Parts: sequence; structure tokens; C-alpha cells
Amino acid sequence: MKTMILGAVALCLATSVSADPVSDRTAAMDQIRVGAATLVPMMKGDAEFDAKIAELALRMTYAGAIAFKGDLFPEGATSKGANPDIWSNYADFTAKREDFVTGAAAAVTNLPSDLEGLKAVYQPLLEDCAACHKPYRIKSN
Ligand code: HEC
Repeated sequence: MKTMILGAVALCLATSVSADPVSDRTAAMDQIRVGAATLVPMMKGDAEFDAKIAELALRMTYAGAIAFKGDLFPEGATSKGANPDIWSNYADFTAKREDFVTGAAAAVTNLPSDLEGLKAVYQPLLEDCAACHKPYRIKSN
């Protein structure tokens, strides 16, 4: 009986939260990182603007943003990179995640056809990285 109850609890946990929220959220951030690694050099003029590559990088950013907004910060799922203030300011943290998804959604519905267009959609997203990392990420590398 006890085993059955434990089994049911484990099943509930497995369906309500990610099996490994820490690796899922770092994987989401890594998608976002690939986006930045592609788009920042374009914005700086170190790489040539390419509308198709910009589109793919923005779509990847959006996918990462949606994934990151998922249930990936259950109470106690601490990590080296996550500032514990996330859990004491959870509403603010969630609002920042929502802003980022909104900005990324705007970028993929307004796909840039030139460098100016890219700057217009991506610069606000870069500001979101800093606005969230400053209070909520512990950078170790
Ligand atoms: C709403 C908050 C938020 C936003 C917006 C955000 N990040 Fe993060 N980011 C985090 C947190 C929290 C972590 C630490 C997660 C952990 O280690 O558990 C993180 C970690 C990372 C990492 C390390 C991933 C790893 O493999 O450990 C990278 C790279 C990163 N972010 C890039 C970005 C970039 C680039 C942007 C903007 C385009 C961005 N992030 C926007 C909160 C955010």
C-alpha cells in the first residue's frame, strides 16, 4: 500500500514538474545563448546581416524563452547559477520571464529584413537578459 502511494506521488511529481528542472532550464538558456552568439555579432557589424539566419536565431530564442517560462523553478530546485532570491521574489521573477517571452514573440512576428529591423527587435531582448541576470543569476564563468 505504502509503495503504491509513493508511486502515485512520484507520478504526480513527474507530470507536474520537470524531471530535472535544473538541466531543463540551463538547456533553455543555452538555446537563448546560441541566439545571442549569432545575433550580437550581426548587430555589431562583425557578421553580415542574413535575414534567414537572423530568423532562425530569433525563433530559437523564442523557443528557449517559452521553455524557460515553464515550471522549471519548483521550490528547492536550487543550482549554482540560480540566485535564491528567485524564490523570495517569485512574482517579480515570473514577470521578468513573461516580459522576455512577450519580447521574443514580438520578434518572431516582426521578423527583421535588415539590420535596423534586427536591432529594433533584439536590443530590447538583450536588455531583458541583464535585467533578469543581475538580480537572479549567479554567474560563475
Ligand atoms: C527572466 C530571467 C532571465 C532572462 C530574461 C534571461 N536569463 Fe539567462 N539565466 C537566468 C537564470 C536564473 C539563469 C541560471 C539558471 C541556473 O543555472 O539554474 C540563467 C542562465 C543563463 C546562461 C547559462 C546557462 C548554463 O548553461 O548554465 C546563459 C548563457 C544565459 N542565461 C543567457 C541569457 C541570454 C543571452 C539572455 C537574453 C537574450 C538571457 N539569458 C535572459 C535568467 C534569465
